[in-house]
Amino acid sequence: SILAPSVQELAKQGIQEVPEQYLQPNQDPVLVSNITSLTQLPIINFDKLLCEDDNEFEKLDKACKEWGFFQLINHGVDSSLVESVKIGVQQFFNLPMEEKKMFWQTEEELQGFGQVYVSLEEQKLRWGDMFYIKTFPLHIRLPHLLPCMPQPFRDNFENYSLEMKKLCFTIIKFMTKALKIQEPSELVDFFEEGDQSIRFNYYPPCPQPDQVIGLNPHSDASGLTILLQVNEMQGLQIKKDGFWVPINPLPNAFVVNVGDLLEIMTNGIYRSIEHRATTNSEKERISVAAFHNIQMGRDLGPAPSLVTPESPALYKTITLEEYVEGYLASKIKGKSYLDVVR
Ligand code: SIN
Ligand code: FE2
Repeated sequence: SILAPSVQELAKQGIQEVPEQYLQPNQDPVLVSNITSLTQLPIINFDKLLCEDDNEFEKLDKACKEWGFFQLINHGVDSSLVESVKIGVQQFFNLPMEEKKMFWQTEEELQGFGQVYVSLEEQKLRWGDMFYIKTFPLHIRLPHLLPCMPQPFRDNFENYSLEMKKLCFTIIKFMTKALKIQEPSELVDFFEEGDQSIRFNYYPPCPQPDQVIGLNPHSDASGLTILLQVNEMQGLQIKKDGFWVPINPLPNAFVVNVGDLLEIMTNGIYRSIEHRATTNSEKERISVAAFHNIQMGRDLGPAPSLVTPESPALYKTITLEEYVEGYLASKIKGKSYLDVVR
């Protein structure tokens, strides 16, 4: 049985009015004032970090403290691989429904096509479909998902997932340098064999974009998220000083964000920021989010060398399993669960 209907199929029917269950009006409006340099998402040059440019490490530090988000340019991931993933994801969503059904989520298994965190009793649906898959560690891969994806997309996607894992690990290492943490291993070791899951987001055009939400405001439960904006258009918005700020994706860049786990591990120095996805009436929008988490079985808490008499622990140390349970229970609404751990 299909848990959530496909919004993509619904949008294809050329409806003029959105069905009741998708209506989520009264979302906070986007920031209307001019986008000044103060409200421009920081741009970090990966190449300069590789060359140990001190100034770039300061920029990274500031971005993670003040925004929790940045765009990463010159990241070194092969652009033809990224292009093939962009095309592949588009084609994957455009497969006939008959072929997509075998990948659809069920009540028991939330991986596959469907909606994010939908429960049967939940009233409101988001204006977007997704495909969610756990990619690392290898042994958790489900036989009916990745192995059944069409070629050559499957191979490209697998390479991409590995590239994201490597890139994440390097970014975490750079962050420990930017943080000037005395014991980098207190952060880095947690990500060496970390878990990864990937979500493709598909937001069809909507006849009433102001009345729906593509993805409700949330902060990521991950350690670090690397986002690919497939069609490089607006839609992702992040909360900055109480305002929703639209992101203008740069070509050949990734949008990188600090998740809740990293906020906790950096004792609140780096911030996991609320964001949301809006829709528009003109054009579909697609994104690919690669979530990187610490290994299961690890204790989650502030890195010991970031806890000092001047900066006492802001979070309790709990097991990752306890955290995940609590996060899901808090219904993925804003940052409520981070507040529980505090
Ligand atoms: C998200 O995964 O938080 C949404 C990303 C996006 O659609 O840009
Ligand atoms: Fe997110």
